[in-house]
Amino acid sequence: MADKKIIAVMGATGGQGGGLVRAIQADKDGPFRARAITRDAGSAKAKEIAKTGAEVVSANADDEESLKKAFAGAHGAYCVTFFWEHFSPEKERLHAANLSHAAAEAGVAHAIWSTLEDSRRFIPVDDPRMPTLMRQYKVPHFDAKGESDRFFREKGVPTTFLLTSFYWENMIGFGMGPKKGPDGALAINFPLGDKKFPQIAVEDIGKCAYGIFKKGGEYLNRTVGIAGQHLTGNEMAAALTRALGRPVRYNDVPPDVYRKMGFPGAEDLGNMFQFNRDFADAFCAARSLEVSRALNPELQTLDQWLARNKERIPLEYALPR
Ligand SMILES: NC(=O)c1ccc[n+]([C@@H]2O[C@H](COP(=O)([O-])OP(=O)(O)OC[C@H]3O[C@@H](n4cnc5c(N)ncnc54)[C@H](OP(=O)(O)O)[C@@H]3O)[C@@H](O)[C@H]2O)c1
Repeated sequence: MADKKIIAVMGATGGQGGGLVRAIQADKDGPFRARAITRDAGSAKAKEIAKTGAEVVSANADDEESLKKAFAGAHGAYCVTFFWEHFSPEKERLHAANLSHAAAEAGVAHAIWSTLEDSRRFIPVDDPRMPTLMRQYKVPHFDAKGESDRFFREKGVPTTFLLTSFYWENMIGFGMGPKKGPDGALAINFPLGDKKFPQIAVEDIGKCAYGIFKKGGEYLNRTVGIAGQHLTGNEMAAALTRALGRPVRYNDVPPDVYRKMGFPGAEDLGNMFQFNRDFADAFCAARSLEVSRALNPELQTLDQWLARNKERIPLEYALPR
């Protein structure tokens, strides 16, 4: 084990980082060992990770010095930020800067920065087709990540810029699953028109990231996008109908209606879906299914993910199963 190279993984108790830690540790003969980073090494989740043989260390993205210690001696670093914990693009940028500084100081040979497009490259702040949020963003949780790419470049960190996709897990824990409408029928509600939308199982983000670390130099200083499938709202509804054994409809909600739904982040997500809809060709083209499958041969489809996870989807306001 001593000769294995260390991959330091942010967010190791969460979705993206958790998938990567499991992928590294599952490959017993592989070249890497995971160093799982958490704010609380004593938590139940952290203890479960330690049982896999991964190293578990404490650090906080707020605290650059703690990140430097956590990355020290590592071959690779998986860098992810946590927008939905604080809803602050400024904080997300600060965390990304801290991660890039720590990766540079540790001299890692390969960082993966989990990023998204800066939507303002497609739709400038003064473009009236979409409301501007917080005075300077169109899609704050995309823009702050895309803007942060430069921290890794400026510090000269050998980096793969990983464009991720919408998780199917959002149907479980993020309130985006089928809901019962006024007519009693189940429906998913997204402002996507009839456009294809890249999506993925979060576990597969970690597995693709593992594929990128294994391929090493091939992906350095490049942007790569990943998705399990590109599906329309109707295709998602059809998959849900097959899995749940009851009809699920897709409602094409206007972005303006979605933005006003009133839950935290509704405006940001309304803009995100509109951005994905209006630039669907570019958004899908940036996330090749073939590349994703080459990185992770176990890449799931929505049908496969639903077969494993449908019981976990809360059918809010729905009839008893
Ligand atoms: N939902 C989607 O469809 C989607 C799609 C693409 C991209 N994203 C992006 O994915 C990112 C989140 O990644 P995720 O879903 O893997 O996260 P997650 O499942 O919410 O897990 C994040 C983990 O990071 C740790 N953490 C939180 N704040 C921290 C801090 N200040 N310092 C150190 N660790 C911290 C927490 O672990 P401990 O409590 O153990 O410290 C938590 O378990 C967001 O920025 C989001 O925009 C989401």
